[in-house]
This record gives sequence, C-alpha cells and structure tokens, in this order.
Amino acid sequence: MQDPTLQCKLFLRTMATNEGAAVTIEVQASSGPYPVLIAPRLIEHLGDLLDERGLAGPRFVVTSPLVWRLHGPAIGAALPGADVIEVPDGERHKTLHTVQRIYDALLRGRAERGCTLVAVGGGVIGDMAGFAAATYLRGIGLVQAPTTLLAQVDASIGGKVGVNLAWGKNLVGSFYAPRLVVTDPVVLGTLSRREFRAGLYEVIKYGVACSRDLFDRLQRDLPEVARQRSAAAATPIIAECCRIKAAIVSQDEREAGARRVLNYGHTVGHAIEALTGYRRFKHGEAVGWGMLAAGILAVDRRLLPRRDFAAMRALIMQLGPLPPIADLTASHVIDAMQRDKKVAGGRLHFVLPAGIGAATLVNDLTGAEVGSALERVGFQAG
Ligand SMILES: NC(=O)c1ccc[n+]([C@@H]2O[C@H](COP(=O)([O-])OP(=O)(O)OC[C@H]3O[C@@H](n4cnc5c(N)ncnc54)[C@H](O)[C@@H]3O)[C@@H](O)[C@H]2O)c1
Ligand SMILES: [Zn+2]
Repeated sequence: MQDPTLQCKLFLRTMATNEGAAVTIEVQASSGPYPVLIAPRLIEHLGDLLDERGLAGPRFVVTSPLVWRLHGPAIGAALPGADVIEVPDGERHKTLHTVQRIYDALLRGRAERGCTLVAVGGGVIGDMAGFAAATYLRGIGLVQAPTTLLAQVDASIGGKVGVNLAWGKNLVGSFYAPRLVVTDPVVLGTLSRREFRAGLYEVIKYGVACSRDLFDRLQRDLPEVARQRSAAAATPIIAECCRIKAAIVSQDEREAGARRVLNYGHTVGHAIEALTGYRRFKHGEAVGWGMLAAGILAVDRRLLPRRDFAAMRALIMQLGPLPPIADLTASHVIDAMQRDKKVAGGRLHFVLPAGIGAATLVNDLTGAEVGSALERVGFQAG
C-alpha cells in the first residue's frame, strides 16, 4: 500500500500546477506523522484528501453556524453525506457543555470508532471538536480544517485540544494529534478585519520567540498583509509559521521543553482574557498585551536589548490600538495568572524573549517585578 502522506503530496503537486502555490509540512507525533497541507481552494477537495489519508468511514463535520453559512456550500459539496454538527463558537462557548452537545450529536448519528470528525472553524471549534474526537469512544479520527488566521498558524497544529473552565483557560484537555490538517487561505477572505488582525499577533509571536528571519520579513510585509488580507499575501507567512510550529511540536509534542516558548505572551494574555470573562479581548489581542508585558520584563532582566523591544512594540502597534486595559488592576492580573496552568509550585512562569528570534523560560520573577512591568504596560497600579 502506498504511504497516505505521500499520496497527499502527489495530490498537492497536481494542485500546484493548476492553482498556484501549494505547501506540505509534515508533523511528527507519537501517534504517527501527519501532514499540514496549505493551498488555495483546498477545502473543495476535502473528500479526496480524506480518502487519500485512508479516512474512509462516516464523516462528521463540527462547525459553527457562521462558518457553515459562509463555507458550508463548498465543504458540503466536498464531503457529500457527512453529518453536520453546528455548535456556537467564540471563547465563552469553549466549554464542556458545548462538547456534550457534540457527543449527543455523534450518538444521534450513530458514530462508531471508524468515523472521522472534521473540525471546520477557528481555534475554538478546533479545540472543542478535537477534545470530543479524543474522548468519544476513547478516540475517533480527527481532521483539522482551520478557518481563522489564528487557527491556521497555530491552533490546528500540534494536537492540543481542550476546553475552558470558569477558573481559567484550557484547564481540561488532552494531546490528540489530527490525522490531517487542511489549510485553505482563501477562506480567510470572509474573516473580519479584527479577527484577521488578532491572528497576526500570534504571527508576531513566532517572529519574536522563534525566528529572526520571520521577524525581519514582518517588519517589511506586515502592513501590506494586514491591509490586503488576501490569500496571496498571507500564504507565505502562514506557511512559515506552520513550519516553525511543526518543527517545535515534532521535537516536543507534550510541551516538556521547547514547545513552551510558544506560550510567549500567554501568561498575561490568558489572565486578562479570564479577568474580562472572555468578552473584551480576542485571544490574539490578549497575547498582544502579554507580549508587551513580557518584553518589558525581558528588558528589566537584561535579556532583551531596548532597541529590540522598541522594534517589537512598533510591529505590534502597527496593527492598531489594542482593546483598553487601563481599568484592569495589576494585582488582579497577577491573581488571575496564579490560577492559570502555567503556574508550578505557586511560581509564575514567563516566557521572555532573549533577543529577537529566541526565548527563554523564567520562573523566579517576583510579584513586585511583574506588578511593576504591568503598570508600565498600562495596567492600573495596585
Ligand atoms: N490548540 C492549540 O494549540 C491552540 C493554539 C492557539 C490558540 N488556541 C485556541 O484557539 C482559540 C482562538 O481561536 P480563534 O481566534 O480562531 O477564535 P474562534 O474560533 O472563536 O473564531 C473567531 C471568530 O471567527 C469566526 N470565523 C471563523 N472562521 C471564519 C471565517 N472564515 N470567516 C468569518 N468568520 C470566521 C468564528 O465564528 C468566531 O466568531 C482560543 O480558545 C485558544 O485557546 C489553541
Ligand atoms: Zn495563543
């Protein structure tokens, strides 16, 4: 039998000749390698791609009403006969309650072990559908078809799945690798300006924490990518982020070491999302504030030269104003951080940039140091 990954590559090569750039990136997971396929109009070929991956059983699509309204016609045509499960998305709905609705629909559709769940949506749908796939009958096939920039560059790769609890983000979850990631940059065309920008903060994260080359490229191209929001402009950047993430998670699937650098900006980011009931900030925007806070801490610790901080800040600010934080008190942000997963032994863990393109984990920061940095970012003193 032919290797299914190879078959996908052959398929993509055919596509490339017909429709422009196509990229295949392989991720190594403990459950086996899986490809991330990136090409325009790829969702129209979802059925063929699943067939080629050997995912022949019944198909269940998990999506949101909005995403399905926009992209259901193309995906429905590509996956004839699939059961469609619509659940609400947005961070407030990333709960066990919504996952229960997915289980109910799978049971109603008599889903068995050999079936495949295709997550069509942003990171919230991907994380919830992934968690449902990981746990329903102790695991059914999972395919990620991300439809937000954030999900395409980050959430769809690496197998982290889960939901939030009232206490904080992603407190219940698992590692469960997809069998395939199908990334079609054309679907980003329907994304709001704000959601697109929210994804760009995670793109900046990769540049600062992992790749000087990407950072330099963003300094050159970011304004145009943000302005155009086109598949053509975004594709090379999406592919580069996917390459970085694939390399990191292939080396450290379970986040024992290297993968932690991808949490850059997330200690403060998660805290302010939780503090504001997941209503004020898009995830990427919260990470934008978090990167600024971690940047100041890194300057304080003499890890990051001031000029690099200024360059990073300029890149973040280029995307426009972030939602306000002046009414959030620094000590409340610290309290919220203490409740997050990134606390071990009661100590705050921060990923700090060590220059541009490198990051390091620091776990001996005092509350006073963090409080002072938060105030300088713009949080209320106290
Ligand atoms: N698993 C991981 O490794 C990982 C990594 C990063 C982030 N995440 C998670 O991802 C989530 C954030 O994901 P998100 O930013 O994609 O948010 P999201 O899934 O809530 O999507 C944002 C909004 O965009 C809409 N949308 C999606 N695709 C669209 C399209 N093509 N056109 C128009 N609208 C569209 C959705 O309906 C939603 O309203 C967070 O919960 C975060 O924790 C997970
Ligand atoms: Zn994130």
